[in-house]
Amino acid sequence: MRVAVLASGSGSNLQALLDACRPPERAEIALVACNVPGAGALERARRAGVATWEIADPSDGAAMLAALRGARIDLVVLAGYLKLVPAEVVSAFDGRMVNIHPALLPSFGGKGMYGLRVHEAVLASGATVSGPSVHLVNAEYDRGPILAQWPVPVLPGDTPERLRDRVLAVEHQLLPAVVLAAARAGRPVPLTPDAVAFASAQSALTALTASSALGKREKE
Ligand code: GRF
Repeated sequence: MRVAVLASGSGSNLQALLDACRPPERAEIALVACNVPGAGALERARRAGVATWEIADPSDGAAMLAALRGARIDLVVLAGYLKLVPAEVVSAFDGRMVNIHPALLPSFGGKGMYGLRVHEAVLASGATVSGPSVHLVNAEYDRGPILAQWPVPVLPGDTPERLRDRVLAVEHQLLPAVVLAAARAGRPVPLTPDAVAFASAQSALTALTASSALGKREKE
């Protein structure tokens, strides 16, 4: 599965994908597109030897489609991409475009909810659990079907920065798990954590990946 990653920032999720999508896994990061000149994501892509595309006009859907089709992309991953993806691109990649959001959707999402604002809103709400969501992208911000979520505790004395860092560490496991499962299944599929998922992030992630692979085998 040829994967394009769209990013606007430091690209730590991109890095997690670059590290995970290697043989014998069936996913390859084939293109990194970025709308911010000099962003860390571009540097990470170049260091990994992955083709880059600097998005001059994020609203130019025709240019984006040409770049994605030119690179024979099967799956688009939005990993900290802060612009709205043009409707024609969303529709061309219907069911084949995913986004990662740093809170438990459908709460704390939507237009303007990005970066520290998300974690500030979580803390202001008094929620005791947060965590990342990966979802399919549709025409509305943060509203497509949810594929995977991971609980992260909100701890006493948390600041938005501390919560962000704790959630981000889990994002780096969850997003590759979704992409690798998609590559095995041929399309993005929901990952359903069983009860063990709440005991330990690492062992739960293993269980989650294994049960997703099992689900695939059962269907064959
Ligand atoms: C992550 O928190 C992601 O959930 C959000 O933007 C941030 C991107 O961070 N959509 P990075 O650029 O991957 O480090």
